[in-house]
Amino acid sequence: MDHFQGMIRFSRMCVNFRRIRKCQYVQLMTTCLVLSVVMVFWEQLDMSFVSHVKSYSYRYIVNRFTYINNNLTIPHEQARRFSDFPYLLDHQDKCTGKDVLLLLFVKTSPENIKRRNAIRSTWGNETYIQTALGVTVKVLFALGTPHTKKEKSLWNKSGEVGIQEQLIHEDHVHGDLIQQDFVDSFHNLTLKLILQFHWMHSHCAHARFFMTADDDIFVHMPNLVSYLKDVSNRGITDFWIGRVHRGAPPIRRKSSKYYVSFEMYPWMSYPDYTAGAGYVVSSDVADKIYQATLILNASLYIDDVFMGICAKAIGVSPQEHVFFSGEGKSPYHVCIYDQMMTSHGHVDDIYDLWQAATHPQVKQCTSGLTGRLYCTIVKITLLCKPYYFNTYPCKAAFL
Ligand SMILES: *[C@@H]1O[C@H](CO)[C@@H](O)[C@H](O)[C@H]1NC(C)=O
Ligand SMILES: *[C@@H]1O[C@H](CO)[C@@H](O)[C@H](O)[C@H]1NC(C)=O
Ligand SMILES: *[C@@H]1O[C@H](CO)[C@@H](O)[C@H](O)[C@H]1NC(C)=O
Ligand SMILES: *[C@@H]1O[C@H](CO)[C@@H](O)[C@H](O)[C@H]1NC(C)=O
Ligand SMILES: *[C@@H]1O[C@H](CO)[C@@H](O)[C@H](O)[C@H]1NC(C)=O
Repeated sequence: MDHFQGMIRFSRMCVNFRRIRKCQYVQLMTTCLVLSVVMVFWEQLDMSFVSHVKSYSYRYIVNRFTYINNNLTIPHEQARRFSDFPYLLDHQDKCTGKDVLLLLFVKTSPENIKRRNAIRSTWGNETYIQTALGVTVKVLFALGTPHTKKEKSLWNKSGEVGIQEQLIHEDHVHGDLIQQDFVDSFHNLTLKLILQFHWMHSHCAHARFFMTADDDIFVHMPNLVSYLKDVSNRGITDFWIGRVHRGAPPIRRKSSKYYVSFEMYPWMSYPDYTAGAGYVVSSDVADKIYQATLILNASLYIDDVFMGICAKAIGVSPQEHVFFSGEGKSPYHVCIYDQMMTSHGHVDDIYDLWQAATHPQVKQCTSGLTGRLYCTIVKITLLCKPYYFNTYPCKAAFL
């Protein structure tokens, strides 16, 4: 009984307290909460948040002035050493005499034959694209040479043939490998990027678009083709689309895969660039990027950042498309399949996803007023979460 009355008295007191000093109370509590959150997370805030704020402000300077280009410009003869590797596998007549809508380079590594086969029989099937979509898309795989160490172990595992011999055989069957004589490694990715632009310049300059993508990406080819046909019909130039990174700071932690030293890149922020997982440029941009690679120091091994530096040098800036993914993965749902362009991180599920995403039922389910309304609600629940979730941005739900 006493206890009960005490509680009543206490709650009355609280009500009074609140009535009298509601404002101050709320203010105080909010301040305390914010302060304690800031204190608890100060380390992380300083590491990522503050450095992002800094670099984001700095970004305006980086994107505006030309001192990065001036600093990275080197003589032709020295720039040439990033591109003059001999070709070991090549198909110079891939594009000859064809009206190519898109030249699509997949960045792959010698050992990833499973991924290449999955792409060949799903979204990268040129025959399917030609017959079902009525356009010519050329899908080529860009790669360097196997590491000697890796080659030995694979040689032993497979018993008879070394990995280069396997590649020659694979290329004999499919005729789609473009290999240059540099070691295929993470730190040589920029060489692979340069290979792609140089190859296009020499052998496929008339393709209307150029795309580069990782070998664990899913491309919704029907959606991409109809989008690019539309862009092409509108005669758009200076076109560069993907998931845009704005004002990203270089990572100075030595333990990171993306570590970049001050000597290599002394500034606080990278120019804007699109995530290397997959992006598209129009052929006029591809040609200008090629020109830029003839005079820039390509030592910076993060290939998508280097692309940003080249683009900065030629005055092209990237545009965001919400259905191009960066590192993120698309949710599995018909309402997403209807609009998706790329999704990252697919290896084993690529066959199922291809079946599901290109099924005729997708269009049926998502069209009409009820279909669209239903899909908006579904997309909001899938994409708009209160916590960070690496997929398409929330605003994609409202398109
Ligand atoms: C580029 O910047 C670095 C670091 O600030 C400097 O050491 C180097 O001399 C510069 N190079 C050119 C060509 O301006
Ligand atoms: C590519 O598509 C064609 C036509 O749809 C089909 O006949 C062929 O088997 C496919 N290729 C692969 C490697 O799956
Ligand atoms: C296979 O592995 C063994 C031991 O690791 C090595 O001595 C041998 O040279 C390898 N064989 C080939 C063909 O690389
Ligand atoms: C890049 O390729 C070149 C040429 O094959 C090689 O000398 C170099 O070691 C490679 N770099 C890395 C980091 O793998
Ligand atoms: C290119 O940049 C690297 C790393 O920043 C540097 O070591 C190298 O000397 C530069 N090359 C030229 C030709 O300036």
